[in-house]
Amino acid sequence: MRARSVLLVVVALAAAAAGASALVVRLGLYDIAATSMHTRPVYALLQATKRESIRRQARDVAPPHAAHAWQRGALCYREHCAACHGAPGVAPQPFALGLQPVPPSLTGAARAWSLREIYWIVRHGIKMTGMPAWRYRMTDADLWSVAGFVSQLADWTPERWARQAAASGTARCERVDGDARPLRPADAERGRRAIPQHGCTACHVIAGVVGAPVHVGPPLAGFARRERLPGGLAATPDNLVRWLRDPAALDAHTAMPALGLDEQDAHDIAAYLRTLH
Ligand code: HEC
Ligand code: HEC
Repeated sequence: MRARSVLLVVVALAAAAAGASALVVRLGLYDIAATSMHTRPVYALLQATKRESIRRQARDVAPPHAAHAWQRGALCYREHCAACHGAPGVAPQPFALGLQPVPPSLTGAARAWSLREIYWIVRHGIKMTGMPAWRYRMTDADLWSVAGFVSQLADWTPERWARQAAASGTARCERVDGDARPLRPADAERGRRAIPQHGCTACHVIAGVVGAPVHVGPPLAGFARRERLPGGLAATPDNLVRWLRDPAALDAHTAMPALGLDEQDAHDIAAYLRTLH
């Protein structure tokens, strides 16, 4: 009897809490403006969620075989990270200052995170913060190089950074292995996961991929039954890969942009699209 009333009270309290949260959402009471600070408890909760999730998921990351190349790390940092996180003596770009949370200076990152945790963060990004994932845009060696560079950022003075930036001139952190790697067999599930990482859901509604209801491009449900691609070519696997990598080559007037897919990602994504009956 006793246990039953305790259970009833617990269920009633849980229902009340769920109802109150639903009401806060429904009435638009939570202020999502980036110009208003998070309340302290919300901020603490978000930071703790981030910290514990990263600690847990980075546990099994195997460290790299080779020592990281710090020059390459500095180059990739300048190109991909400094706009948001700034660099020694260099402020973040104006758009980054309007992000909430603001991208922190990484000078102290080595105190908060181990090398493999920094690698994990850069590879996977952090949802709902503006921290992008780089795994589809940097090689694994470059991810380790940039993580290694970040872990030593505390040793960098503004003078050293300015010298290094001047010395590397117009060099770029280009992804060089993309098309050179031997292709793995196309993997539809890997393709499904890669789709939001290539911006496809910015324009298409794609069955099996969570995203906003945007209809700039046609919805891709039932794509496997499509016989022709835009521009008129038959929707064969090879033509689909060509379309995904360079739409304008098949249809000069298309509004779909080339998104820089490497050959493997294009094969994987094509394999997924062909499962959409
Ligand atoms: C578009 C802006 C943006 C870019 C570009 C960006 N970051 Fe971030 N980064 C963020 C934001 C926002 C956070 C989250 C801050 C928070 O949770 O308080 C973050 C968090 C991090 C963190 C965890 C810091 C901490 O203590 O929470 C690391 C490490 C990091 N970024 C490294 C990088 C590296 C390396 C690059 C380049 C490869 C990069 N970031 C590019 C915006 C960016
Ligand atoms: C900026 C918006 C935009 C983005 C981003 C975009 N697409 Fe498209 N896509 C379009 C438009 C518009 C069309 C229609 C093209 C036409 O008819 O010329 C299209 C057509 C297609 C088609 C042919 C559909 C059909 O019914 O013939 C496929 C397949 C496709 N997109 C897949 C993708 C994939 C996969 C990605 C991500 C790698 C992607 N798109 C990213 C706008 C976009």
